[in-house]
Parts: sequence; C-alpha cells; structure tokens
Amino acid sequence: MRILGIETSCDETAAAVLESPLRVRSSVVASQIADHQPFGGVVPELAAREHVKALPTVLSTAVAESGLGWEDLDGIAVTRGPGLAGCLLSGLTAARALAMRLDVPCYPVHHMEGHLLSLFLSGESPEVESLCPALLLLVTGGHTALVRMEGPGRYQVLGRSIDDAAGEALDKGARVLGLSYPGGPEIEKLAATSVDGEVAFPLGLPSGEEARKRGGDFPFSFSGLKTALRYHVEREPEGDRAEVARAYQAAVMGTLARRMEQALEVYDDWKCAACVGGVAKNGLLRSELERIASRRHLSVRTVPLSYCTDNGAMIAAVPLLRAVEPLAAPVGAEPNLPLMGVRLR
Ligand code: KG4
Ligand code: ZN
Repeated sequence: MRILGIETSCDETAAAVLESPLRVRSSVVASQIADHQPFGGVVPELAAREHVKALPTVLSTAVAESGLGWEDLDGIAVTRGPGLAGCLLSGLTAARALAMRLDVPCYPVHHMEGHLLSLFLSGESPEVESLCPALLLLVTGGHTALVRMEGPGRYQVLGRSIDDAAGEALDKGARVLGLSYPGGPEIEKLAATSVDGEVAFPLGLPSGEEARKRGGDFPFSFSGLKTALRYHVEREPEGDRAEVARAYQAAVMGTLARRMEQALEVYDDWKCAACVGGVAKNGLLRSELERIASRRHLSVRTVPLSYCTDNGAMIAAVPLLRAVEPLAAPVGAEPNLPLMGVRLR
C-alpha cells in the first residue's frame, strides 16, 4: 500500500509518500518559520494562507521525489486535528479533493498519534513486537505527555502537563530572553555557549491529589518555571544570558528526564524508550534519555531529527500501521481532537 501523507496543522506545510512494509519514499517540508519570526510566534491567519500557497508545490514535489505517479497512490492521509483551525482546513480540503480526484480513500489522522508513530520511522525496518511496550515522551509545542504504547492504536497516557507544554515553555522563555521563534533551538544554541554557572531553576514536578487528577501519575508543570525565568531576568537584567539559557534548558529537560526515569521504574516490561515531537530534537534531552536508559540496559530508539518536528511521513505512517476508518462524508477540522477518547492536555 502507498499513502500520501499531508500535514498542515501549524507552521509547516508537509507531504510524504510512504509504502508498506513501512518505508519513506519521499518527505518534503516547507517551513513557514521565516514568515512568522517578525511576529515572535505563529500568526494563524497568515499560516493558513501560506499553506494554501505552498500545498500544490509541496504535494507534487513529494510525489515526484517518490518516483511514483499520482495513479500509484492507494490513499491520502491528512491531519484532522489538533491544530489551528484554518491551517487544518487547508490541508483537509486539499486531501479530500485529491482523494476524490484519484478515487482513493482519505484517512483522517490525529497529529499526536503521528508523532507517537514516528517511533517507527527510522532507517531499520521496525518490528512492532520488538519495540513495544514503548515508553514515549511526547514533547511538542502544545503538548507534553508520557505515553505507554502497547502497539499502534494502543496508547495509555501515564502523565501530562497540568499547564504549559515543554515546547511552549521554551518558546515563551526564549521571548523573555530576547531570542526569536521557535524558542527551543534558539535556547539550545545560546545554552551551548555557557559551560557552567551559579544560576539554577527548579524542576516542574508537581505532587499531590490535584496534580494527579489533572496530570495523571506523572504530572509535569512548566508555567512556574517560566515565571521564575521572568523574575530572574527582571532582577538581573545585566546577567549572562547564555548562563540563564543553560539553566533554563537544564530545568526543562531535567523535569522531562526525571518523569521518564520514574515511569521506567514502575513497569518492568519496557522494550524501548524514546522521545518524539519537536522538543525531541534537543541534544540535552537525548543525552539524558541515553543516560537513564543505559542504567537499565534498555534500548533508546532515536527518531531521526527530520521526523521530530512536524512532517508528512508521520501522518502517512498511521494508516499504514493500523486500520483507520476513511472519511465517508465531508468533515470539518477538529482543533481540539481527542486521541481515541484519551485526553492529552
Ligand atoms: O512537534 P512540533 O514541530 O510542532 C508541534 O506539534 O507543536 O514542535 C515544535 C516545538 C517548538 O516548541 C520548538 O521550540 C521545539 O519544538 N523545538 C525544540 C528544538 N527544536 C524544536 N526544542 C528544544 N530543542 C530543539 N532543538
Ligand atoms: Zn507536531
């Protein structure tokens, strides 16, 4: 089976052609980062218009680079939600029109499930049985969750953030530090120029009944950290920004790593651990995970950097890895789509 995957939920216009057994034949990502940078964040209306402009080229390039023709496609997969309404709608409309024209099914995909299944998108041919149960840290711009994956379609959320997502904390923190959007890579670059220092921020590990009710057994919290950063910068406006960036990044990644470590201890049948989503590109987070897992002789699955941030390959992977009901009638975008009844935030 050959599937064209389309992703337009935020600021990347992306398409990819995948086939089963799972193999990426092509993957094209047109980033809008430069368009939004002057505004310090994603402008929804601008993003939706840019998707409409970019889609024809991104789609035809993905098909051309796959070495296949349009007629070779067996289905179209598209992000239905969560995401920005206008952005989702541009991808969804293109996908439905294409599916109708090619007379193939159109599969609606949950963006976060795409991120989870990016686990299977690395070079070697992945055996589901050899990787699951997998402990996945899902870290994107809008979501932070710890997920136990028994296999494609079988997810248990062990913990989630009770306020901001880790990516959001990095993006907002970057603004406080006078860095540009997106904040994660900017903070990582600046932090790399500082070796050590006195500055330290607390980890975001809430406890108690209320935190468990809202965040599960492994709750995260990042809004206090962001406030601590703001106070610090106000108190010491002339302080070394690189040192502050290093400490802030250490607190975000330290929080994520600590929860992963705790979740690894609770179950003893893990086959692998991995980070997925844009924040999984972070070098410090990757090395922390290596450290934690190696202590338990557990293998770490590294998702290629290009499949951490938003891409079409992870969307096409979903209907290739599990049965997805195709769209029967026109549907709207779902900005707050739940994942198979599971609340991610
Ligand atoms: O998964 P993604 O591309 O989009 C969403 O679904 O939200 O994730 C975007 C997030 C942003 O918050 C961005 O700052 C963060 O990923 N990010 C990073 C790095 N690269 C991107 N965070 C930390 N370190 C990085 N190198
Ligand atoms: Zn994403």
